[in-house]
Amino acid sequence: MRIRNVKNKEVKLNSCEKLIKNPKDYCGKWITLFNNNNPIYIEIGMGKGKFIIENAKRYPNINFIGIERLDNIVVRAIEKLDEDLPNLLFIRMNALEIDEVFNKEISRIYLNFSDPWPKLRHHFRRLTSEIYLDKYDKIFTNSKEIHLKTDNEDLFSYSLETLSKHNYYFDEVLLNVHKKEIQNWITTEYEERFKLENKPIFFLKAVAHHVQNSKK
Ligand SMILES: C[S@@+](CC[C@H](N)C(=O)[O-])C[C@H]1O[C@@H](n2cnc3c(N)ncnc32)[C@H](O)[C@@H]1O
Repeated sequence: MRIRNVKNKEVKLNSCEKLIKNPKDYCGKWITLFNNNNPIYIEIGMGKGKFIIENAKRYPNINFIGIERLDNIVVRAIEKLDEDLPNLLFIRMNALEIDEVFNKEISRIYLNFSDPWPKLRHHFRRLTSEIYLDKYDKIFTNSKEIHLKTDNEDLFSYSLETLSKHNYYFDEVLLNVHKKEIQNWITTEYEERFKLENKPIFFLKAVAHHVQNSKK
C-alpha cells in the first residue's frame, strides 16, 4: 500500500472517538463499549476501511472493529466515515498483540488481502501462520470463523494448509470470486483494483468449534 504522510495526523487520530487508544483496557469487556450483546467481527489489516465501514452500515446488528497497524492508513479510514455508526470501532495496533486485546469475545475474523510475505523465512509473519492461529484461538468465542480473500495463490494454498492443520474445515472455497456476481458481496480497496485488472481473487470461509479442543 502506498503510504503518503498525512497532515495533522496526530490531531486527527487523537480527536477520533471511534479510535480506541487503550485497547488492552477493554480485553474481555468490549461489549461495554458497544452497549449491547451483538456478535463482534474484526478485520485485521483493514487498510483504508472501505470493507469494514460498508459492513457496519449494512449490518447494524453486528459490532465491527477494524484493526490496522499504520497511523497514516488509520487516518484514511477515519476520514472515510461519513455517518455516525454506533456499531463500528477502530484500533491502531499490530495484530501480534491481538490476544492481549480480546478474550473469547470475537465471532468472526476477516483477513482481506493480507501481506503475502513471499519469502519462506518470513512465512511466520503471515496472518494465517501457526503463531496467529494460536492467538486467534484465545480471542474467539466457542466457535471460530475466518473469512479470507486474496489475489495471492501461494498465500491462499498456505492458508488452506495451516487452517486445516489447525482443525478448521472449509464451508466455502472460491477460486475466482468475480467470475459471476455474488449477492451481498462487499469489496475492499485492493479488491476493486484487482477486479479492474481482471485478476482472480481467491476466497475461503473456514470454521471450527470448541476452541479449547482445537490444539494439534
Ligand atoms: C495489502 S493491504 C490490504 C488492505 C485492505 N484489507 C484491502 O483489502 O484493501 C494490508 C494491510 O494490512 C496491514 N497490516 C499488515 N500486517 C498487519 C498486522 N500485523 N497488524 C495490523 N495490520 C497489519 C497493512 O498495514 C496494510 O494496511
